[in-house]
Amino acid sequence: MTDQESFVERRVREIRTDGPSVPLDYGDLRREAAEHLSNDAYDYVAGGAGSEGTVRENRAAFDRYRIVPRVFRDVARRNLSTTFLGCDLAAPVGLGPVGGQAAFHDEGELASARAAADLGVPFCLSTGASRSIEDVAAAMDDVNDDAPRLFQLYWPREWDVAASLVERAAAADYDAVVLTLDSQLTKWRRRNLRNNFSLSDAAPKELLTSDPAVRRLADERGVPVEEFARSDALAKDASLTWEDLEWLRERTDLPIVLKGIVHPEDARLAVEHGVDGLIVSTHGGRQIDGARAALAALPAISDDIGADVPILFDSGVRTGADAFKALALGADAVLLGRPFVFGLAIDGRRGVREVAANVLAELDSVLGLSGHADVGDVGSDALVTAGPARSPGRPSAEPDND
Ligand code: FNR
Repeated sequence: MTDQESFVERRVREIRTDGPSVPLDYGDLRREAAEHLSNDAYDYVAGGAGSEGTVRENRAAFDRYRIVPRVFRDVARRNLSTTFLGCDLAAPVGLGPVGGQAAFHDEGELASARAAADLGVPFCLSTGASRSIEDVAAAMDDVNDDAPRLFQLYWPREWDVAASLVERAAAADYDAVVLTLDSQLTKWRRRNLRNNFSLSDAAPKELLTSDPAVRRLADERGVPVEEFARSDALAKDASLTWEDLEWLRERTDLPIVLKGIVHPEDARLAVEHGVDGLIVSTHGGRQIDGARAALAALPAISDDIGADVPILFDSGVRTGADAFKALALGADAVLLGRPFVFGLAIDGRRGVREVAANVLAELDSVLGLSGHADVGDVGSDALVTAGPARSPGRPSAEPDND
């Protein structure tokens, strides 16, 4: 590799030399991952809420925008690096929070965190992780201590545990707390009901069972810690309101990012309440069926508050061209969900790294070919809206058609 080698040149060279270890096409990636996962775990990852209309809608939304390239703009060298909340990102693509990754690969979160560190892109650790806050931090530091790491909080009914978790995240040098707000109740996910699948049966909740506040409470109540970690006491607190943010603010100096914002009014309220960033997301269509696509929500939110706080985006990003569209519509960076989980299932750290590196390579290519030398220069003038998209409401013969 030379200093001048770009993301796309490097990835094409790697593929020509070593071949890809994971399929380049998302449908192939998903199908190959299915062979490495139990049927139930595969359904858990691929599936969504209800009839899975939001999963399809998230994808269809990307199809409604088309890229309009410009020429003669000196794109010989491109810059994909950017910053988020003061952290340096090698490129504006990271790995979103996904719980219980030991259900998909033995190394679980350690493999995906190391892959993010390999690439210098952010890794977000879920409260539902099968590895501890500290072990994931150490694994990333061993590879590249500059790669940003975010801690995603599911705020439990026992608020002492929330306080303890964010304290641990700060002590282990995480860069921000991502508070997920679109998952506070039981979801209606038909596949999991049909399969009688529960992630807690498939992967340990080590992040929680290693927590001192969790251990103390389990001890006080005379319950084994593993059982306590799965109990109602640690279920998400669905009674939270905007006023409760102040409590969290008092317990951490880390920036607070809200995940699951799709309404412009909520984005404005978030800014009024002093949050440091937002993630526009539908949780990959896993929560509400028939919801508006995350991408459709992005432009208005970006117009309203994009100048005040940074915006991350997820839900439906599969390719570098998708990432480009989200950046053009106002995201500062995008997060991957299912694609990296499928890479993890196929080939652990290498599989995750390749999935993300493929997205980065294509983003680099599309960036330059559309006439941009810097990711920071991509704006909505790079896109036009296309005619009506295919109907997202009708499931196809193959249910996983995102
Ligand atoms: C998730 N997601 C998620 N989000 C979160 O805040 N905490 C979590 O623990 C999880 N867990 C989780 C598990 C699995 C298997 C999936 C697929 C997703 C949501 C995730 O962070 C992200 O919002 C979506 O996955 C993005 O959509 P795509 O890329 O999967 O379409």
